[in-house]
Amino acid sequence: MTLIHETDYGTPARLSSTLVTLEIDGRSITVPEGTSVMRAAMDAGITVPKLCATDSLEAFGSCRLCMVEIEGRRGTPASCTTPVAPGMKVATQTDRLARLRRGVMELYISDHPLDCLTCPANGDCELQDMAGAVGLRNVRYGFDGESHLKAGKDESNPYFTFDASKCIVCSRCVRACQETQGTFALTIDGRGFASFVAAGANEGFMDSECVSCGACVQACPTATLTEKSIIENGQPEHSVITTCAYCGVGCSFKAEMQGTTVVRMTPWKNGGANEGHSCVKGRFAWGYASHKDRIMKPMVRERISDPWREVSWEEAIAYAAERLKAVQAKHGRGSIGGITSSRCTNEEVYVVQKMIRAAFGTNNIDTCARVCHSPTGYGLSQTFGTSAGTQDFRSVDKSDVMLVIGANPTDGHPVFGSRMKKRLRAGAKLIVIDPRRIDLVRSPHVQADYHLQLQPGTNVAVVNAIAHTIVTEGLVDRPFVEERCDPKEFAKWEAFIAEHRNSPEYLESRTGVPAEQVRAAARLYATGGNAAIYYGLGVTEHSQGSSTVMAIANLAMATGNIGREGVGVNPLRGQNNVQGSCDMGSFPHELPGYRHVSDDTVRHEFETAWGVTLDPEPGLRIPNMFDSAHDGSFRGLFVQGEDIVQSDPNTHHVTSALEALDIVIVQDLFLNETAAFAHVFFPGTSFLEKDGTFTNAERRINRVRKAMPSKVGRDEHWVACALATAMGYPMHYDSTSQIMDEIASLTPTFRGVSFEKLDRVGSVQWPCTGLEDDDTGMAIMHGEKFMRGLGRFVITEYVPTDERTTRMYPLVLTTGRILAHYNVGAQTRRTANVAWHPEDVLEINPVDAEIRGVKDGDMVSLASRMGATTLRAVLSDRMPAGVVYTTFHHPVTGANVITTENSDWATNCPEYKVTAVQISRSNQPSDWQVDYAKNDVERKRIGAANVLAAE
Ligand code: SF4
Ligand code: SF4
Ligand code: SF4
Ligand code: FES
Repeated sequence: MTLIHETDYGTPARLSSTLVTLEIDGRSITVPEGTSVMRAAMDAGITVPKLCATDSLEAFGSCRLCMVEIEGRRGTPASCTTPVAPGMKVATQTDRLARLRRGVMELYISDHPLDCLTCPANGDCELQDMAGAVGLRNVRYGFDGESHLKAGKDESNPYFTFDASKCIVCSRCVRACQETQGTFALTIDGRGFASFVAAGANEGFMDSECVSCGACVQACPTATLTEKSIIENGQPEHSVITTCAYCGVGCSFKAEMQGTTVVRMTPWKNGGANEGHSCVKGRFAWGYASHKDRIMKPMVRERISDPWREVSWEEAIAYAAERLKAVQAKHGRGSIGGITSSRCTNEEVYVVQKMIRAAFGTNNIDTCARVCHSPTGYGLSQTFGTSAGTQDFRSVDKSDVMLVIGANPTDGHPVFGSRMKKRLRAGAKLIVIDPRRIDLVRSPHVQADYHLQLQPGTNVAVVNAIAHTIVTEGLVDRPFVEERCDPKEFAKWEAFIAEHRNSPEYLESRTGVPAEQVRAAARLYATGGNAAIYYGLGVTEHSQGSSTVMAIANLAMATGNIGREGVGVNPLRGQNNVQGSCDMGSFPHELPGYRHVSDDTVRHEFETAWGVTLDPEPGLRIPNMFDSAHDGSFRGLFVQGEDIVQSDPNTHHVTSALEALDIVIVQDLFLNETAAFAHVFFPGTSFLEKDGTFTNAERRINRVRKAMPSKVGRDEHWVACALATAMGYPMHYDSTSQIMDEIASLTPTFRGVSFEKLDRVGSVQWPCTGLEDDDTGMAIMHGEKFMRGLGRFVITEYVPTDERTTRMYPLVLTTGRILAHYNVGAQTRRTANVAWHPEDVLEINPVDAEIRGVKDGDMVSLASRMGATTLRAVLSDRMPAGVVYTTFHHPVTGANVITTENSDWATNCPEYKVTAVQISRSNQPSDWQVDYAKNDVERKRIGAANVLAAE
């Protein structure tokens, strides 16, 4: 293995179909019009010295090191800012150029510390490389003049330092923050020799607007901006390409290693989803993988009140199988089941669902997607015929209008959020539908054209009102609808949506959105050119989640915004492998590839391959498992990599269900909240120890590669195979690629997927049905026709949620996530990301706070009909009056103690986004938090004992 080197072409590629031929150093080269001379030279195999240019940024032309001579032109133009021209003759190496370049380098070096041997960038410094490239041998100006050598360091960021003494003011960092990340946190302050890089108003990185994405660190050609992990450990010696394990963007990274230790994660330029960009989580928050809290040995216990006992893998597997079999013998085959994880690989999820269907002999299998994007699966398959988003991320570069509903991309999907902002800065229009003023509404050089600040729970009403405007104002794309959609369903929908009760005026009092704003936004969406819809959990996690997904699909079909670049319906998936866990057959009614268990032909195919008889009846969903646990018919649960106690709604209901079970098996990295109710604990592996694939929000299947061997001595899929075998159904794979081969052989949309192809082409997007080498799947779906044939309009009646505000509970709580943390925080809380968000807080409008005598920073009690918790209040005009907001990243907050059991009518996805609450000042922890603190002491005791035992 070697360090994977990515070539820097100096300036970005141009895509023009007009080609230009020129001559560089006597070599003829043909490139797209608009290409820089520097990049053309690189294409011809000629490297021109450079410092301020890098191919992720537009050329700036400040260092002058890249000068060239061009026949017929005066002077020595910078090759990075000079575009090619037909017949141009360029010389990159002449005596004159060599002299001039040495002069430039002399000036840089005369103001640079000469500490190369002890510098952390030694071996990875472009300044050092350029000194070598231009043949610098002495510095005529000496080192005694005015300099910046005593400029101080900013070490405020937990992950990187800024050492101003090494800065050459090339501005790559400033431009990366603007162009790539879109945060505009950096500037060049001062003038001439006194100019310097400043974060914010020169207040240091941590106090500035910086979101720690790392783009500036990546762009810096010197050691000025350097990762602290590199300062501590030195340079990597090999790297492994893998995929981020946090959100559904699915960024590709180089895990840069020293032996089996990661020293840096850098975003990979060839990554299809991120193209070289990253966010703070993927770039820096990987330390949890070697956190001391990780459990390294399997553990068992008779009762949940007993202490854990460390045992061998074989004993743990045998113990788990025996107890599961005993439960089945007494209570029947259907008395046990399992939950798969969207954080695990496709291969790991596949074997767990196979274990449950084939070895447990039941379809009682569900996934954490139940509580996030199950309405997406239902809604998009009903309307379009496929349970997935329609576009690739690149498509947004062609959008003229973006409609963002119930999503907060700059926090939840940051790398894609940056891409959206780039397109918005280039002139695309923006409609945001959200109760909260998310960052996209107003951020540097981005301003939403319309922010429809609706009441939580009224998504269907607002989307219907937009559709009503489109239909009644004659904005329907009739040719598209006539050619591509089911005419009968459209006629029914058109008549329904045109009714006055769907008009913006009629619904205004329910939604809180002025009718004229709805109409204006509708006109923009329907007539503004390519219009794309992006949505998130603010759409799905409602009692009408599936209805909103279908209402969104109706909008796209009615306006012809489907089936080409720049348009479409795009669910922004929460966890890294939500798409994949659903694809792999984790729902109780569907086998891999979304095929119903009651379909005899499909079932027969799996029965033949797996050598078992499968149950034709759908099994239990997660909420049904809890209900059945309460009534005593469900007695045993296998939980793969999920913390259902923290993430599922109505915590009391979940914990009492778990307490009622005879056997709970948890497989995870840490002793999470759910493990408090477990009898068997199987240690899991982090993404750095996994071999397999993740599927992101654009259906892109990316490879996950082992950067280090499993710290717990086993692969996760081995555990499922061993448990299935111990249950009486022999299951074994020689390699992970064998699992993917089985998936491909049984799943038509994955037919053309193999590790060999993924390793060769990088990634593919399903459906990928061709076995040919060049079939990399489908970037944009429903091009010629919908996957179901004709697009189906569905009637989406607005039905208010049962959750109502009253005098006792007059406010509405809505929940979400923030940039620094991920889901229940199990990983990010074990990294320095806590510096940005040490606790969950309650955002409350200043008017609501004043009425209750609450000041910024006060502790408050947050109470619903379900329960209460205490947390800190933060006054924020991002919230409209009447609505409060919090996150669920810290277990001690227990945000889900508050949420209700209301759920989506079609899929049971919980209604996290609407809970009637009251707020009052309080310094007392809630009863639940007192209990939690007691358990936490016990958890810490067990954790500490395990660490001691391991040592
Ligand atoms: S910090 Fe690095 S990238 Fe930024 S101006 Fe200085 S040398 Fe250039
Ligand atoms: S880390 Fe990202 S946000 Fe922060 S200054 Fe650098 S580029 Fe800007
Ligand atoms: S955007 Fe998502 S996938 Fe990309 S680095 Fe951040 S958390 Fe990882
Ligand atoms: S690399 Fe062209 S001017 Fe700096």
